[in-house]
Amino acid sequence: MQDVTDLAFMRVIAEIGAPDYFFTEFFRVHAQSRLEKHILRSIDENTTGRPVFAQLIGEDLFHIERSARELLRHPIAGVDLNLGCPAPKVYKKNVGGGLLRDPEHIDAILGLMRATIPGLFTVKMRIGFEDTRNFDRILDSVNHHGVDLLTVHGRTVKEMYRSEVHYDWIAHAVHRVTCPVLANGNVTSPEAAIRILETTGARGVMIGRHAIRNPWIFRQCRERFAGLDVSTVTLAEVRHYIERLYRATADSEVPERAHVNKMKKYLNFVGQSVDAAGAFLHDMRRTQTEAELFAVCDRHLLEQPTRVFSPEPYPGIIARPNCETPSAETDGCSLDTVTA
Ligand SMILES: Cc1cc2nc3c(=O)[nH]c(=O)nc-3n(C[C@H](O)[C@H](O)[C@H](O)COP(=O)(O)O)c2cc1C
Repeated sequence: MQDVTDLAFMRVIAEIGAPDYFFTEFFRVHAQSRLEKHILRSIDENTTGRPVFAQLIGEDLFHIERSARELLRHPIAGVDLNLGCPAPKVYKKNVGGGLLRDPEHIDAILGLMRATIPGLFTVKMRIGFEDTRNFDRILDSVNHHGVDLLTVHGRTVKEMYRSEVHYDWIAHAVHRVTCPVLANGNVTSPEAAIRILETTGARGVMIGRHAIRNPWIFRQCRERFAGLDVSTVTLAEVRHYIERLYRATADSEVPERAHVNKMKKYLNFVGQSVDAAGAFLHDMRRTQTEAELFAVCDRHLLEQPTRVFSPEPYPGIIARPNCETPSAETDGCSLDTVTA
């Protein structure tokens, strides 16, 4: 996830319980692009013990090939193509979700990437741009070019992040493609993961926002899949996670206020499971300094330290109540704009 899945975040997650593998933030590909250094760090300095796939977003064949070849010099598990980003500034350039309007061009990109990448080549897509009219053609290209793994986020680009997820269309993809499919969209808990795997027939799930909210979710899913009791998380553990994240993402070049503001973006998700009234979110959003932020954390998380952090988000508590859709100004899936 852009602005999220950097080296620091991956390390914090891995300490708590890593996913089977990670996908990087997307590398932008265009005529002037160079592989972004901070994203490369999440590959070159990956100490999580889990493989990491490098994701590309772009539409220019020559530069996609150039970037894929450069990525192959790094210790990646494979290369992933982004066919889903719904930010208007992105899709208007015909990249990410914008490409879903042009299945012929997708076919050309998949053919080129397959020819370029000797190892694992994966695709992450939405079910369409504004409807599913091109879905089958794209799935057929996925088969034709021997894509190794397909992740399907069960929404169209126009549906952004908050509509219902169309798991029936993910099931459709599972039936149509020959490679394994990961189901994506609102995997909120181990129970949701089981339900989604059963209804879609997918081989696995990809988890985005709910791993920011609840980084224990990967461990909990493993427990649930093994038929074990799912461990609960206490508010004191959540306090510890926040502290770890604060320290891991700190940068001496970034002023305290800016760092606190960045933390608020993660905490918008965490706060969905702290209390049903959204009181933590309310107070957290008003902090400006590290001391204020941790005072709010202490008040809401340490007064009843053994209280259970809700496995599901509390109903009606959304991560950013005033920002339902990314603005045209945003050039990606930034934490500023994506709600849950
Ligand atoms: C802050 C943020 C950044 C994201 N960045 C990316 C990205 O770089 N590449 C990508 O394929 N999807 C990205 N996504 C989309 C997620 O991977 C995922 O498809 C979507 O959030 C739905 O899954 P979820 O309900 O598990 O979050 C991003 C989502 C969020 C919230």
